[in-house]
Amino acid sequence: MLQDFFHTCKSNQFNVIGYPVSADFNYQELDKFWQFSFNNCGDWAVESIYSLNTFRFEKEVMRYFAEKFSIPFETSWGYVTNGGTEGNMYGCYLAREIFPDGILYFSENTHYSVAKIVKLLRIEHRVVRSLPNGEIDYEDLQRQIALNETEHPIIFTNVGTTLHGATDNLDKIKAILKYAGIQREDYYLHVDAAFHGMILPFVDAPQPYSFADDIDSISVSGHKMIGAPIPCGVVLTKKEYVENISVAVDYIVANDKTITGSRNGITPLMLWYAIKSSTEQEKELRVKRCLRLAEYATEKMNEKGVPAWRNPNSVIVVFPTPSEAVWRKYGLANSAEYAHIIITGHMIDNIQFLDQLIEDVALDLKEDETMTVA
Ligand SMILES: Cc1ncc(COP(=O)(O)O)c(C=O)c1O
Repeated sequence: MLQDFFHTCKSNQFNVIGYPVSADFNYQELDKFWQFSFNNCGDWAVESIYSLNTFRFEKEVMRYFAEKFSIPFETSWGYVTNGGTEGNMYGCYLAREIFPDGILYFSENTHYSVAKIVKLLRIEHRVVRSLPNGEIDYEDLQRQIALNETEHPIIFTNVGTTLHGATDNLDKIKAILKYAGIQREDYYLHVDAAFHGMILPFVDAPQPYSFADDIDSISVSGHKMIGAPIPCGVVLTKKEYVENISVAVDYIVANDKTITGSRNGITPLMLWYAIKSSTEQEKELRVKRCLRLAEYATEKMNEKGVPAWRNPNSVIVVFPTPSEAVWRKYGLANSAEYAHIIITGHMIDNIQFLDQLIEDVALDLKEDETMTVA
């Protein structure tokens, strides 16, 4: 069974174009660490009596992301999560602890897990309409904020939505709150940067996305743009917010500040390795190559009559959903109207596959048009 499964995995290794997954990673140097029972339970900043932890690596990972997201390391705190969802939940949890009477606003294009998070945390929430490109509908947000249902709005923003790679304009959102007379200390701004969080720091003209733009917390997935064999991510926030939820636990002789008890010790090691095994210039080059390839795919589809498009600084190319035969063949994620392809690291050396896909999508659309006319 294992051998069979291995062959299946090998033949599908790079067959992930519909999803935000980079498959160009190599963590073989870490193979020797699989024999240890790691557990990062607790806070990496506090020495643990459980010696098989990877706290020293987690600390360096958090130092790296603090720099990437423009917050002084000393005033920040965060940890390596199980993925973007946990980071988003953590941001919402902190916000709710700060503003128990807050209402959380998120756009209809927000990742589906947020609906689950507000249910689990019992946070009152409002769904805001989305614009056709996937950004939050600023007018609808303004209208809902003006209803004045809470003195403490919690705004859940997207830096790269799942389907369209759209980034909400944080400046516009802050202006809406200011216009409504809500002081900065009376609202909370969380950023879901699951995928684009490791794109925007490397582009020439990023949209606002970081603590330099006055956010309160940010969540990024590690297995998406970076790439990892195990889902993981980081969440980063201001140290002062975390004190609100910190609980001293005798059993681990530490303060518990995270959502889960036991925590993965291998993924901090992986993220540390991913960060250290390439220079920042190499990371930038990889991101820029992905963006160029996404532009190539968009233009080529347009030339062939497919009305494909993408949002600024996004590697997600959106186009009308092709027939089931085509989306199944390529494993394309799709909704009723749109499908998309996502250009990540391993696609850089896979242009023939991309060309074939574009050819099939264009042909499919032509056949569909012919049938409609007939
Ligand atoms: C925008 C966005 N947010 C959150 C998530 C959830 O992240 P994860 O799958 O790492 O939990 C995703 C996953 O695709 C996403 O695209």
